[in-house]
Amino acid sequence: MTSPAQTELLAARVDREQAERVAAWARDARARSVALIADLDEEQLWGKQLPYVQPPKWEAAHAAWFVENRVLERALGEPPFLPNGHTLYDSTTIPSRVRWDLPLPDRAGTLAYMWSVGQVVHDRILAASERVRYYALYALFHEDMHSEALTYTRQYLGYPAPRFAGDTRVPGAPAAETRVGGPLPGDARVPGGIFRLGAGHDEPFVFDNEKWAHPVELQPFSIARAPVTQAEFAAFVEDGGYRRSELWHAAGWRWRESMAAEHPTYWQRSGDNWTRRDFDRWTALESYRPVINVNWYEAEAYCRWAGRRLPTETEWEAAAVGEPAGDGQTLAPRKRRFPWGDVPPSAERANLDWCALGCVDVGALSAGDSAFGCRQMIGNAWEWTASAFLPYPGFRADEPYPEYSAPWFETEESPRKVLRGGCWATTSRLIRATWRNFYPAERGNVWAGFRTCAQ
Ligand SMILES: [Fe+2]
Repeated sequence: MTSPAQTELLAARVDREQAERVAAWARDARARSVALIADLDEEQLWGKQLPYVQPPKWEAAHAAWFVENRVLERALGEPPFLPNGHTLYDSTTIPSRVRWDLPLPDRAGTLAYMWSVGQVVHDRILAASERVRYYALYALFHEDMHSEALTYTRQYLGYPAPRFAGDTRVPGAPAAETRVGGPLPGDARVPGGIFRLGAGHDEPFVFDNEKWAHPVELQPFSIARAPVTQAEFAAFVEDGGYRRSELWHAAGWRWRESMAAEHPTYWQRSGDNWTRRDFDRWTALESYRPVINVNWYEAEAYCRWAGRRLPTETEWEAAAVGEPAGDGQTLAPRKRRFPWGDVPPSAERANLDWCALGCVDVGALSAGDSAFGCRQMIGNAWEWTASAFLPYPGFRADEPYPEYSAPWFETEESPRKVLRGGCWATTSRLIRATWRNFYPAERGNVWAGFRTCAQ
């Protein structure tokens, strides 16, 4: 029998362990975002004024300012570390187009600010209450998301692939053989039934748009075991896929015409073959790796060409973490936290955390298969779904960041679709099967591919 004193001691220990974990994650997130800009010169840190990117030094310091603002100012009520920070780095009041005109600190000043605020916040977290820890978690996950964005910005701008050293080199990076796995053709059959879409109350941290699990009726369906490969997408391009308006949504065709798109954004014809730009290098297509950097319209056109369709987000989540009932004919009431079960991601199950610095073959990482045999539903490449980004029933914006989801739900003027699963530059501490990413249908600069369903 445990005495009240022992219970108190135990609670204090759990509290301390949680604080140390959050502080370690905050330190790791900061080391990552610093590493993503530290090798760039002043000109590279400004980048180019293009749609859907930020100046890299704005983006990295914005993530640091967000930590300072949410943890020090809002949660702890302390004065800001950087008195004019909100006039430089507040994304809710500074529109994207003016971020290149701001009087931002130079490279050394930016890095010094990021390190200094990181150290102060780290020390506060160790002595923080549960509420402050929640704000700190929120802010470090926000930084993780910006680190993924900084990585695709480096690709967008043609910079070298990021290099990580020391404590940002993720332990357990996959050995070369786990990146090779060939193709994985064929469909998985998922039974119908009532599926509980969204995050359960037992999940330790979730964002507002995942709350909460609610029943959705599903018909049985067949879904590809793997995402569409570069070789499969090349067949669509070669068959005139970008020139046949009947394959495209009206809005998609308008996008294609306006961009004069003939192939995925980072592809280029080289003689009889295609090459793909990978950061600052051109490489032959990697036949069995997923096609990436295609937008929702391109994914939809491919599906129409192939006689297939995109999964809805409910179908995607059921294929990823649903389980068959005993009779195999319906979905069980229980679902898993990850495709392989409830234990956190590891390098042999999912390509995350920049470990491979790119995608691996769609047939690799069989240890991460779902109950129905779908592979890589976590990591490697985000997957577009057919679903519009809309609130779940009873939606309420999160207190630390009310602007996270609510301004971005799909409208007629602004089609915005749900993506699932994370990619190789998503952190394993952030991703789970119920996580909903959301981008405009025309966004092609994120590491997104797709898998298809039978009609
Ligand atoms: Fe942000």
